[in-house]
Amino acid sequence: MISKEEHKENPLDMGAVEFTAVGKQLIYKIASFLNELPQKPVTTSEQPSAIRTILGSGGLPLYGESADKIIHEAADLLFDHSLFNGHPKFWGYITSSATPIGALGDMLAAAVNPNVGAYILSPMATEIERQTIQWLTEFLGMSKGSSGLFVSGGNMANFVGFLAARKAKANWDIRKEGLGGRKMLVYCSKGTHTWIQKAADLFGLGTDAIRWIDMNKDQQIDIKVLRTEIEKDLNNGSYPFMVVGTAGSVSTGSVDDLSAIAEICKTFNLWFHVDGAYGAPAAVLPELAQTFRGLNEADSIAMDPHKWLYAPLEAGCTLVRDARHLTDAFSFHPVYYNFDGDPEDPAVNYYDYGLQNSRGFRALKVWMALRQAGRHGYEKMIRNDIELATQLYQLADKQEELEAISQSLSIATFRYVPAERRGDENYLNKLNEKLLNELQSGGKVFLSNAVIDGKYCLRACIVNFRTTTEDLESLIRIVVEEGRIIAGNYPPTKTDSQ
Ligand SMILES: Cc1ncc(COP(=O)(O)O)c(C=O)c1O
Repeated sequence: MISKEEHKENPLDMGAVEFTAVGKQLIYKIASFLNELPQKPVTTSEQPSAIRTILGSGGLPLYGESADKIIHEAADLLFDHSLFNGHPKFWGYITSSATPIGALGDMLAAAVNPNVGAYILSPMATEIERQTIQWLTEFLGMSKGSSGLFVSGGNMANFVGFLAARKAKANWDIRKEGLGGRKMLVYCSKGTHTWIQKAADLFGLGTDAIRWIDMNKDQQIDIKVLRTEIEKDLNNGSYPFMVVGTAGSVSTGSVDDLSAIAEICKTFNLWFHVDGAYGAPAAVLPELAQTFRGLNEADSIAMDPHKWLYAPLEAGCTLVRDARHLTDAFSFHPVYYNFDGDPEDPAVNYYDYGLQNSRGFRALKVWMALRQAGRHGYEKMIRNDIELATQLYQLADKQEELEAISQSLSIATFRYVPAERRGDENYLNKLNEKLLNELQSGGKVFLSNAVIDGKYCLRACIVNFRTTTEDLESLIRIVVEEGRIIAGNYPPTKTDSQ
């Protein structure tokens, strides 16, 4: 028998007094961290060996320590040795500044710890996820009755769409028989994010099943080439099943002609999936209605609240026009599950909708932020980010030593071009790569890169509610200063110009 007294000795449980004291300390520490964020370097750029030394190389602890000590140490380690994507001068890749309410939401979700795989294990959490998904379908202007689920991020959200498509468009029992030697093909632009390769590989098609379609001068899928390729494959006995349109490409933020893709999918009876992991939230802006025309005709959409809805990692979601396509693709009902509930008042069991079985409560932080900002608050933040990217493009365009390359949604690209090296593309590519590495390790700002029509560019993706115009002005100054130093230290060699 285990007595109540022995439970008190439990090494992991915390009483209310201790939890409140330690928790309060942590909240104070987080509040001052957020307050001091703009004064900190964006990253400390320490090498793995330095971080390992700081962390120490002790083995598995044999005896426990106090929660208070652990919480303080963990917070200090992270506050002193991290890259801060919530910093106003962070614009790398596509990772947003995270909502403070989201941090609190994650804590609440972890405290209640509902398993949102099945309704019976998570009644309120399941319904909050369902409501959040419904709000997101409204956000994107999808038809009533659209559905979906939360996943960890963009890759997983696209995988769910891919698997729903594979099942819906196979005219045999693919879940039982597999591909059976058939050549199922998927079409997407050459600018599509690398998730498509993982999906084709992992889900049995092989990467040769991807038809990479050329892009036009606006970095959109070339619709004419797309149609010709599909016709060619149909004529040679292959099995086209899906077209992926991108709404906000990872390199430039370009949005494909979604309505033209929808038309082609209708003509050839193909699944229309949109990778809107980054860009889909901009569809909320009335002034971008034309850009996103056709989005609401997609059979499935991947969109990441941890990108442009500013949710803390992780939060992605797949939205579908018909939930049946998810259960068709994912449902199994083993005898040891008693989740069916009352047929008169049917429950949503999310394990039936996707790849996961046990599921955390990712929706809560998104639900809270949607309530805190409302549609109008989000419109304002997303519009600001686009406005800032436009300003950055203009600032780069005005500065003689910079070449502004592209701007779409909240991504702007540009490069450093010293006057005497104009046209020397090999040199410029190497110079800008060195410049990016210098900027990334310098800690004053954080950009990433894009290669556009063979040009190595510096790329800023602004999904950051802390960034101001002054931050971008200082970015331009820093890039030019660093560019001059690096060009001075790096005179072109013979091979650079080849
Ligand atoms: C367009 C697009 N799709 C998918 C992804 C993958 O998202 P995640 O990193 O959340 O898996 C990204 C990531 O940047 C992206 O930009």
